[in-house]
Amino acid sequence: MSTINISIERAKESGVGNIDFNDLPFGKNFSDHMFIADYYDGEWRDARIVPFADFTLHPATSAIHYGQAIFEGMKAELAPDGQPIVFRPLKNWNRLNKSAQRMAIPPISQELFMAALDTLIDIDKDFIPTAPLSSLYIRPFMFATEKYVGIRVAENYRFCIFTSPVGAYYSRPVRVFVSDKYVRAAPGGAGFAKAAGNYGAAMMPTWEVQKMGYDQLLWLDAIEHKYFQEIGTMNVFFVIDGVLITPGLDQGTILEGVTRDSLIQLAQDEGYVVQERDVSVDEVIHAYNDGKLQDMFGAGTAAVVSYIGGFHYKGVDYELPPVEKREVSNKLRARLMDIKSGLVVDKFNWVHHVPVTQSV
Ligand SMILES: Cc1ncc(COP(=O)(O)O)c(C=O)c1O
Repeated sequence: MSTINISIERAKESGVGNIDFNDLPFGKNFSDHMFIADYYDGEWRDARIVPFADFTLHPATSAIHYGQAIFEGMKAELAPDGQPIVFRPLKNWNRLNKSAQRMAIPPISQELFMAALDTLIDIDKDFIPTAPLSSLYIRPFMFATEKYVGIRVAENYRFCIFTSPVGAYYSRPVRVFVSDKYVRAAPGGAGFAKAAGNYGAAMMPTWEVQKMGYDQLLWLDAIEHKYFQEIGTMNVFFVIDGVLITPGLDQGTILEGVTRDSLIQLAQDEGYVVQERDVSVDEVIHAYNDGKLQDMFGAGTAAVVSYIGGFHYKGVDYELPPVEKREVSNKLRARLMDIKSGLVVDKFNWVHHVPVTQSV
């Protein structure tokens, strides 16, 4: 039994009837409530569920100026028995605290994180879409709220979680542009943190390639511009001659994706050889030229697996095999989606069942 005390102020009216559950664009609809806790006098305090509403911010709110802001992303679905389930939330809690540590934001206890998540999902469970492949996107985030213009570690923070029903993610193959001009993260930097600034700095380079007709950037390492890192919002995987390869986490330059970790475990379970290691553009282009590059895909919470249709590097477009021929990504994608939806036995114990206690 949780010892966390969360006060609940219910929305006067539910907005659930105003949402078109047949047309759910990403991130535009919001559930009735949000969770908030504030950090002051050295502790997270005032844990509460309140009606979803705007914040009022002082113009000197330090996160706006100096970027002590981090976030997470995960999803809830309804299992076939109607119970809300969340995929591996403790991985997100753990990553949130790693990001917090890097950005000098105070950590949050597992107990508070899970109590906040469970209470919020339970109270707004009517917002979990039921159509296949749709889900309730969950956005936990933390930011410095201190009203102070000097540059130093803030003393006050807010932790908030809101949720947003989202429709099926259409996983059409993405076209990625391998960047040899900009870099996302260097060793010693904050690439492993899900820090707002990492995304802010990627906006312009990403926009530049999107204007050229590509969907996303595929980043290279900051030192030699030679080794693959990750895609803007996903980790990257290659299948070369039957071997599944993904860049390693040891440099601290890429996000430790929950999907990445899950796919590695599933692939090993399926008997594939999996390598977490440096993978260079040269190696991949050689494999391509030898007909040995069988698959390339992105891994992330949004689409689970995003097939990469082709990549661009130094003026050349390389086309990947059609989706029907992607044995590895198709198999892993189907297995992971079934686990996330509670459709198959969860032998890895990845699925968290949200206790349902609130009556609406
Ligand atoms: C930069 C980046 N890499 C990788 C990922 C994939 O992480 P996850 O599988 O935990 O969603 C994301 C998405 O959160 C991301 O933003």
